[in-house]
Amino acid sequence: MNFSGQHVLSVNQFERDNLEYIFNIAEKMEPYAKRKIRTKVLDGAILGNLFFEPSTRTRVSFGCAFNLLGGEVRETTGMETSALAKGESLYDTARVISSYSDVIAMRHPQAGSVAEFAEGSRVPVINGGDGANEHPTQALLDLYTIQSELRAFEQKIDGMHIAMVGDLKNGRTVHSLSKLLAQYNNVHLSLISPTELAMPDYVIDTLENAGHKVTISDDMEHNLNADIVYQTRIQEERFENQDEANKYRGQFRLNSDIYTRFCKSNTVIMHPLPRDSRADANELDNDLNQNPNLAIFRQADNGILIRMALFAMTLGVADQVDKYQCPVPWYSAK
Ligand code: NCD
Repeated sequence: MNFSGQHVLSVNQFERDNLEYIFNIAEKMEPYAKRKIRTKVLDGAILGNLFFEPSTRTRVSFGCAFNLLGGEVRETTGMETSALAKGESLYDTARVISSYSDVIAMRHPQAGSVAEFAEGSRVPVINGGDGANEHPTQALLDLYTIQSELRAFEQKIDGMHIAMVGDLKNGRTVHSLSKLLAQYNNVHLSLISPTELAMPDYVIDTLENAGHKVTISDDMEHNLNADIVYQTRIQEERFENQDEANKYRGQFRLNSDIYTRFCKSNTVIMHPLPRDSRADANELDNDLNQNPNLAIFRQADNGILIRMALFAMTLGVADQVDKYQCPVPWYSAK
């Protein structure tokens, strides 16, 4: 399998054996992510990290993942501080930045924008989220997390029950994750959202064509009896105005009381983050923070492993990471 020089634009490009291969490489990144040992395999390489939409985790973890492989990061944040605000085309930006960089990670508010950018790029481009469309690296880290959390209960992705909750219309993470789940067998998906924010039909079709059981509901509580609950935020930036988004904020709140009453004893709680902790939203309450099945921070940590794996693969060094090892001289509490 050769990912060298390839873009990562959509989860559609991955077959199930590709996923297993990526997860294998990701697992091998753990000692580096935990600072047990360093590698300089990407010493001298440059990541162009272009984020034209708000981001904390995704942007910083792309950068850290590249640094952890020994590479350097150059980045631009926000549309208004970039030449796109002066009318430059994605093609021109791509031509220029790709000559400065060895690989590019990019987030942009328009669906399809990262693929358009990739056409002008001479180096691999990794999609960090294009509007409401896709978020392939998040879906990979979500699936990796599901696999490792279920392993603790001797369960597999095949045959699992996952409940996705919230803004399933605008949430790109649930679109990409669902498409990846279509590669597995016999999954039951409970899709819980306000009717107006339901999962797009093309995603539901993909799931049903894969033979999965899909339950659609606007009743959260009676559909939480799942192996995984994947909670999401109302994607307010995709609405015409705040009043529109406010209609749905706070409608589905998962907290300790609801968990105890309606979830299974070991239901794993996930969220791509950021969770909206403002009082009128609060879709995932802080009172779950000590619950051992709250996987949200392990999930975010896994983002580093997956992004390291993707960089190593697209730059063709996945089998050389250990060869460029060196010690960690500083104190590390990880
Ligand atoms: C998500 C995103 O930006 O699509 N977050 C993330 O990348 N971790 C989900 C969100 O913003 O709600």
